[in-house]
Amino acid sequence: MNRPVFIAGVGMTPFGVLHDSITELSSKASLQALQDSGLVDARIDRLVVGCQNPDEFTGIGHLSTIMSDQLGLVPSGATRVETGPSSGASGFEVGCSFIASGLAESVLVIGAEKMSEVGRGIASKILAKMMSNENETRYGATPTALAALITRRYMHEHGLTRDELSLVPVKAHRNGAKNPLAHFQREVTIDEVNVSRIVADPLTLYDCSPMSDGAAAALLVSEKYIPKLPSKELIAKVLGVGHATDFHAIQHRDSITSFKATKVSADAAFKMAKCTVKDIDVFELHDAFSILELVNMEDIGLFPKGESINFVRDEITAVHGDTPVNPTGGLKSRGHPTGATGMAQIHDLVRQLRGTAPKGLQVQSARKGLAHNIGGLGNNMVVSILECFS
Ligand code: COA
Repeated sequence: MNRPVFIAGVGMTPFGVLHDSITELSSKASLQALQDSGLVDARIDRLVVGCQNPDEFTGIGHLSTIMSDQLGLVPSGATRVETGPSSGASGFEVGCSFIASGLAESVLVIGAEKMSEVGRGIASKILAKMMSNENETRYGATPTALAALITRRYMHEHGLTRDELSLVPVKAHRNGAKNPLAHFQREVTIDEVNVSRIVADPLTLYDCSPMSDGAAAALLVSEKYIPKLPSKELIAKVLGVGHATDFHAIQHRDSITSFKATKVSADAAFKMAKCTVKDIDVFELHDAFSILELVNMEDIGLFPKGESINFVRDEITAVHGDTPVNPTGGLKSRGHPTGATGMAQIHDLVRQLRGTAPKGLQVQSARKGLAHNIGGLGNNMVVSILECFS
């Protein structure tokens, strides 16, 4: 990056089925982030809102302009960014670019989505629009249906069993049970996962992230603001951001059990951050479906192909393990208001790096964290790497 970018403050609403409107959720997360930074009278040069589809989920469009007005930021420039469910991380990337390029000294980034205002059938149809109409949606495919295909193929290639796959949501819910902001704060057992209702064979209810409402935000600043920040311990530095796409329809890709866009975006982020996967202490990976956590860990370079489940079983990816993955519950248990997820990952990583994660979820001596957000079925990936400032 041409100029360093710092995260001065973060905020997040609870995730779940919520009464607040998308603008109220966005305001709450933003005000928390501004207050959290401790900056007094800071001018916010730009506002960036990452959101997948507020127009169809809520009937509210032009969200960036609305939020600029509602947050008292007029006349600062305001932009909405959309890359499907990675909209939050893409908003973060755009916010970083404004500061790195010198276009802004301070940027407020919001990730938000409110999915519960429409019925489940309509919500599924809205989500399915991110996939290929020619090759997938017009044949009735939804994200869950494609994730089920990927799961079947992975089971075929690597001998993964149903009981083994269930270990992934069991871990997610174990962590989410301790996260006061999570959509689901309840542990589940392997048996519960196995016998819960089938959504798309072999995926059961507990293999799927829910449709959630929520928002998360961060205040990004340039070096100029560092002397004005009350506590150096609370600042995180952005070390690298990578972003990559793949062919739109999964049938056009080399493999459906590995996502090339994850590899490309992770490589770019590691290169920019001048570190490797071995240097990362805590991971936030996009586990919208159980199988994705396994695929993502392999594509990021954590474990050999087909072997990641062994590391889940041995609790290497647990909060206290050598390679903690999704310590706050991941999309599965924390919830997945699509456009908000990327910023929730940033929020949770910053809290890990500060040492202020929720009780029982703090990763010991976490200094570097990696967030990975997917924007489609295995497509449009954003990988961000953060580090403690002090
Ligand atoms: N995990 C665990 N419990 C869940 C859940 C999930 N994913 N989704 C819903 N529930 C629970 C609800 O809390 C509710 O419990 P209650 O009866 O005790 O209140 C119950 O199951 C029924 O909830 P409901 O919202 O009616 O479920 P649904 O059948 O309409 O939806 C899914 C469940 C899994 C089909 C839906 O959440 C879904 O499609 N998820 C995938 C979303 C997606 O594709 N996101 C994009 C990925 S990139």
